[in-house]
Amino acid sequence: MASEEGKGACVTMEIGEAYRNPTEVTMSQIVLPCHSNHCGELSAGQLLKWMDSTACLSAERHAGCSCVTASVDDIHFEHTIGVGNVVTIIAKVNRAFTSSMEVGIMVTCEDLYTDTHWRVCQAFATFVARRRETGKVQLKQLTPQTQTEQMEYSLAAERRRMRLIHAEIITDLLSSSTAQLGECREYQDAVPAERTRVESVELVLPPHANHQVSTFGGQIMAWMENVATISASRLCNAHPTLRSIDMFHFRGPSHIGDRLVLKSIVNNAFKHSMEVGVCAEAYQGGEPQRHINSAFMTFEVLDADRKPRTLPRIRPEPVDGKRRYQEAVARKKIRLDRKYIISCKQNEVPLSVPWDPSNQMYLSYNNVSALKLMDTINNWVLTSEKNKTVHAGGEPDAVLQSGDERERLSRADVPPPLRPQEEKRVGPPLSGVRGDHESGRRRHHLSCQDAFHPKRGQRDPYLIALRSVTLPTHPPTADYNRREVLCAGFTILEESSAVTKVTYYNQATPGVLPYISTDIVGLSSSFSSAFSACSDYLEANKDSSATLDSQTINAANMPPLPKEL
Ligand code: COA
Repeated sequence: MASEEGKGACVTMEIGEAYRNPTEVTMSQIVLPCHSNHCGELSAGQLLKWMDSTACLSAERHAGCSCVTASVDDIHFEHTIGVGNVVTIIAKVNRAFTSSMEVGIMVTCEDLYTDTHWRVCQAFATFVARRRETGKVQLKQLTPQTQTEQMEYSLAAERRRMRLIHAEIITDLLSSSTAQLGECREYQDAVPAERTRVESVELVLPPHANHQVSTFGGQIMAWMENVATISASRLCNAHPTLRSIDMFHFRGPSHIGDRLVLKSIVNNAFKHSMEVGVCAEAYQGGEPQRHINSAFMTFEVLDADRKPRTLPRIRPEPVDGKRRYQEAVARKKIRLDRKYIISCKQNEVPLSVPWDPSNQMYLSYNNVSALKLMDTINNWVLTSEKNKTVHAGGEPDAVLQSGDERERLSRADVPPPLRPQEEKRVGPPLSGVRGDHESGRRRHHLSCQDAFHPKRGQRDPYLIALRSVTLPTHPPTADYNRREVLCAGFTILEESSAVTKVTYYNQATPGVLPYISTDIVGLSSSFSSAFSACSDYLEANKDSSATLDSQTINAANMPPLPKEL
């Protein structure tokens, strides 16, 4: 990726002054014994409080008014933090929507004695500007200034789309997956789940609230983490380490004077990890309890060598306990699929992943993010032009020349071929390129932005992202290698009322190049027919975009893709 320097980011900057995002807020804390647990490690609850406060200050800096935490996306803790280390939390607003904003939070740790720094976690939280008497607040929009900001801005819309349908998707997946799981197995020496049940009450006092007397989201997350840790400890009679938290969604506000009832139980224990379900409800006086938040936390128990210990099995309670037990299995699968797809570094992403409905959303997200990454790289170089179609390669320090904007502008871009050791990692099984062509349309993952027609001047294109996947119904054959297409697709950006820029990106290993090289050098007409099909489709649908159902357009809505893809 190109460096951000020299991108002319800041009109308001003095020469030589480093650019700093105006919404950025930094908190640095030295970890004291009062912040730590009995193992001398920073408690995850304390970290969640610091993360929430930093993110809230960033959101309020942008909004100019008081904001509340609506949700915090999944968090995966990569390291623990010891007493005496310094924790630095940097938060900045990635994008403002109507009344909500996505805030990106990065947590790093520093050992002052050795001057080493490491990443602890990254999180994305959504904050909502508090409603005024006149109604919902309309936030001012952000204009991304650097390449990284541009990408985060663009990805924030995709993450929001996933966030808002998250509960629905998980419910659907759980109902289909748990039906296939069958009965829970009984283990003789299993620990009864009842033994891990914890209930605790907290009175919300002024120090737990923000300047608007609402309970701090971070405080609620910390209380939830506290009861979940007790549940996890009861299963294994040891000190557990929190590894990850599934999305926190704050369903309703809580205020000073509320009694918060926190309940947790171990839903299931796997070989090296366990899932704890935790719920927070609030009440005041004789009112009925209000559901504030529910979350699922994954714990491990580390041995003296910091390796995960084998955990005892759990015996679920009848009915509800068995349901939670099975749902935990399904959620674990969803988490693993997701991790497989999105946690790898860009050049380590598996070329082809097994297809399963549970990973559809994340596969789509991953493809979109890969495409957006390519879209934000500005140092493309013009290599050739044929029939108004521009072919560019991503040579460093080169720019796509101006004046190339035609009614249909395309870039057929090939990143540098993988290095030999990376190719090795790709490995078999092979899948058929022809198989992709013949039955591939259903297997292309299509996704798009929440705006069908992006506003002019905003770098937020309409996207069609696709990648080959493996399917048990289409096993690999000796002749065809479906694994060699990483993520490819189109971005379609309306640049003015007369110009729409259609860009085709293709990433492939050398093995697949013979199949598509005619397209890359522009000798085949299939790319331009695909562009025409996309363009015609958009043209035909642009007036009806408001009526399009939801924010995703599925395969059935799209023009046929070229056979060579
Ligand atoms: N994740 C992210 N954003 C969400 C969300 C979720 N789960 N649910 C709603 N939102 C966003 C909406 O997309 C909308 O954004 P937009 O205005 O930019 O389009 C915004 O929240 C407001 O949505 P709206 O439908 O007007 O309100 P709502 O009735 O859904 O209320 C909250 C949303 C967040 C205000 C409400 O659920 C709430 O008060 N939650 C508690 C917040 C709180 O007090 N947190 C601190 C700890 S208690």
